[in-house]
Amino acid sequence: MKAALSSVPEKQQQDSEFLRDVLEGLGGKRKTLPCKYLYDEVGSRLFEDICEVSDYYLTRTEASIFATNLKDIADKIGPEALLIEPGAGNCEKIEALLAQLESPKGYYPIDISPEILLNAEHRIKANQPEMQVWSAVGDFTQPDVWDQLTQLPSRKRVVFFPGSTIGNFEPDKAEQLLELFAANLGVGDGLLIGTDLVKDSVRLERAYHDSEHVTERFNKNLLNRINTELEADFDLSLFAHRAFYHQLRKRVEMHLVSLKDHSVSVAGTRVEFSEGETIHTENSHKYSISDFNQLLARGGFRPICHWKDAAASYAIHYAQAI
Ligand code: TRP
Repeated sequence: MKAALSSVPEKQQQDSEFLRDVLEGLGGKRKTLPCKYLYDEVGSRLFEDICEVSDYYLTRTEASIFATNLKDIADKIGPEALLIEPGAGNCEKIEALLAQLESPKGYYPIDISPEILLNAEHRIKANQPEMQVWSAVGDFTQPDVWDQLTQLPSRKRVVFFPGSTIGNFEPDKAEQLLELFAANLGVGDGLLIGTDLVKDSVRLERAYHDSEHVTERFNKNLLNRINTELEADFDLSLFAHRAFYHQLRKRVEMHLVSLKDHSVSVAGTRVEFSEGETIHTENSHKYSISDFNQLLARGGFRPICHWKDAAASYAIHYAQAI
């Protein structure tokens, strides 16, 4: 585990990486910003709020599929499993499943926030004192945070990746991520993964442009963060939140649209915006069951089964590493 508090040089390094990524993203012909920067402290809290808004059906639909099929899911996983959760955050989604498993060997959450992980570890230990928890702090797309796993006991390992987070990766990156998961599993080990399903664009777009404007605040918070951390002067009132479903790419794209021609200074560098120009901030890919099964196969997994809600809005898949 890395030190819980980042040292000063580490903080400076993070800032310069942030600045480099922002200037690179805003310097191109099509402006983009890496979505990982949406999740500072304010952004993470706003994201928790998104999960509660009525237009955002994903979180509660996934939760209901879990609640309905918990026993079946636990049976698929089987006894003496070690559960691994990349991007675990507050680890709330897994608790009911851990409690349902037969003689689990433990839980290995991975997250970039040491504080959130520590809190979660305390809560899990309080609720399930027998549970072994090994927290790993870091970016789950980097192989090094998976390293400790090799020393841990288990009959079977299962990666738990809920929240349709796989949809936030471009298809080739999603495939690489599945390959990384598979590389840390043995043949026959499991993957339990949630995906939002392809559906009518009105419902999809409403989920990412909710009537309570929480997603808008979440998206615009990125500009606020750049203002405060990188000495920039974005005027938030000159940008609008836009979310639309791209039928061909099967993804909801989130953008920030400039409402007029203007320029912004980011740490002394001038960035020009024309009216209608956008900054692309996030994608959320949607899959049919068969599209996702193909992605699983490309990433090194054999699809075993899946569970859906009655309206077929969302799916939880179980697959085995090959
Ligand atoms: N993975 C979820 C999704 O694609 C969560 C998410 C990521 C999200 N970025 C978002 C939700 C932006 C709303 C807005 O839906």
